[in-house]
Amino acid sequence: MAEFVKLAAKSEMPAEGEAKEFLLGWNAVCVARINGELCAANNECVHQGGPLADGTIEGGKIVCPWHGWEFDLKSGQATYPSSAKATVYPLKVEGEDVLIQM
Ligand code: FES
Repeated sequence: MAEFVKLAAKSEMPAEGEAKEFLLGWNAVCVARINGELCAANNECVHQGGPLADGTIEGGKIVCPWHGWEFDLKSGQATYPSSAKATVYPLKVEGEDVLIQM
């Protein structure tokens, strides 16, 4: 299993109900704070590659800015189509850092 590595400082994390993109090497990661909890997913929408971090949070889900697919960032599950799933990553806070497992 992959190690947890530093993604960014805790102070850089998005505010409640917002999402933000972080780069980790070549990987773009979308981090959102939903109901007080930080969640992370591949920033590239599985539909046609839209930037999830530029989307909005509605009803506890992130809505892709390109065509409106909605994803639960805890499970990655799309509302519709139900066969679609974003790749989600575990996060943990250690001291002042937020770590990610990819
Ligand atoms: S690219 Fe995200 S919904 Fe189409």
